[in-house]
Amino acid sequence: MKSKKNIVLIGMMGSGKSSIGKILSKKLNINFIDIDQKIEENEDLNISDIFKEYGENYFRKVEEKISLQYLKSDNSVISLGGGGFINRSIRKLSFKTCISFWLNWKNETIVNRIYKSKKRPLVMRLSRDQISNLIRERSKIYELSDYKINCEKLDKIQIINKIKYIYENN
Ligand code: S3P
Repeated sequence: MKSKKNIVLIGMMGSGKSSIGKILSKKLNINFIDIDQKIEENEDLNISDIFKEYGENYFRKVEEKISLQYLKSDNSVISLGGGGFINRSIRKLSFKTCISFWLNWKNETIVNRIYKSKKRPLVMRLSRDQISNLIRERSKIYELSDYKINCEKLDKIQIINKIKYIYENN
């Protein structure tokens, strides 16, 4: 089979990158790579404990190393961590090896999903307004992705089929 670019899913925590990526990869019969999971395997710690024990800067370094490693794959669906695409090197390689899809939701939807989440160290101590500001700031960069999928009015299968259609016709 001719090697094809990867699909990279980007967007905020809680936007469904992992669950959509997993189903999408099955439908396309290609690999699924979840970067958060690869980071956890590499460090033998979960993301919350990496933040707690070593801090965010350390996490970002590992995130960069692991993301750059897996973005070199082909024929895969890759779900980046919410901060991955914000990193210039990760973004640059994503453009080269992948077709990027931003899973875009209303701010309010994301805030409701992640506010007070214990599994998400980055937002654990943030107010609803602070999370909303973070989404607004990041959206300026997510906006640079190849395709923006407005997920709000779609169900999961519709989101997946939309990405699949674009990918297969690319
Ligand atoms: C982060 C998102 C998380 C994880 C880490 C930091 C972020 O990934 O990488 O907690 O900066 O937005 P998900 O987007 O997969 O939850």
